[in-house]
Amino acid sequence: MLILGIESSCDETSAALVEDGKTVLSLETASSVDVHRLYGGVFPEMASRRHIDAILPVVASALEKARVTSDDIDAIAVARGPGLIGPLLIGLQAAKGLSIAWEKPLIGINHVEAHLYAALMGKEPLFPAIGLVLSGGHTLMLEIEHIGCYRLISATVDDAIGEAFDKTATLLGLSYPGGPALEEMAKQGDAAKISFSLPKVKKNPLAFSFSGLKTAALYAVKNAASEQYPDIAAAFQETAFADLIRKSRLAMETRSIRSLVFGGGVCNNQRLRTLFKDEFPDLPQFWPAPGLSADNAAMIAGLGYHQFLASGCKGASLDLEALPRTPFWQ
Ligand code: KG4
Ligand code: ZN
Repeated sequence: MLILGIESSCDETSAALVEDGKTVLSLETASSVDVHRLYGGVFPEMASRRHIDAILPVVASALEKARVTSDDIDAIAVARGPGLIGPLLIGLQAAKGLSIAWEKPLIGINHVEAHLYAALMGKEPLFPAIGLVLSGGHTLMLEIEHIGCYRLISATVDDAIGEAFDKTATLLGLSYPGGPALEEMAKQGDAAKISFSLPKVKKNPLAFSFSGLKTAALYAVKNAASEQYPDIAAAFQETAFADLIRKSRLAMETRSIRSLVFGGGVCNNQRLRTLFKDEFPDLPQFWPAPGLSADNAAMIAGLGYHQFLASGCKGASLDLEALPRTPFWQ
């Protein structure tokens, strides 16, 4: 079964063709990050304008790269949220237009759920699992019973982890989005030279909080010479990841878990992967394949396949709405 996926929830306009939820035939993505870099963060109206220009060309290019036509598609899956309302609406309207024109069923997908699916694409999952969504907009820990069935364990009470990376990177003079640049800078630094406290949330030992760590980094930067910035980057990164490890371990103490599943742009970070693999060497871990950590339409098409089958291949009605903030867990 061939699904066309469309993703436009933030600053990436993406289209993909995925066979049976596992084989990516094509993935085409246009990013407007060059514009947002000028503002130090995503400028929603600018993102919307770029989505309008890019959406149909990326779909056309995804079809061409996969060497298929609209006749070969079984359904169209689109990210309906969470995300920025303007950008979401452009992907959704494009998907609805194509659904009418090509007479194909429409599938509305939760973008964050799709981030977790990205790690499982084409693999044999091991459930129950703990899922960690680590992106620019979300930091979530969930228990995954099976694809489509999730229970929330904890979330961030303030900044998302990717957001904290981006803001700390800005303090260190790195340009937006600073996560990858901070990882690079941290390689030159010595984390042991600076000590940041592990984040704690009162009365909720599993909840995440990154704003205190970001503020600690701010004071460290104020008191440091630029030669010490790599040490600050390294200490920030080690502390943020130690926190994820500590809370994952705590969550596992009271749950019977067969694997860990990771999703979101921060999963591009190689140090994060190494730390988790070293810390839990005997626990199977599912990480997104290259190109599938950050926002992409392949994860939307892949999850779309499962959701379409689960719905008895019915598809959604054309009054499907964008949902900027809707949970996908029970
Ligand atoms: O999943 P994503 O593409 O978009 C959202 O749904 O938010 O995640 C983007 C986030 C940004 O905050 C970016 O800085 C962060 O992922 N990121 C990284 C790395 N690569 C991307 N953070 C740390 N290390 C990286 N290598
Ligand atoms: Zn995302």
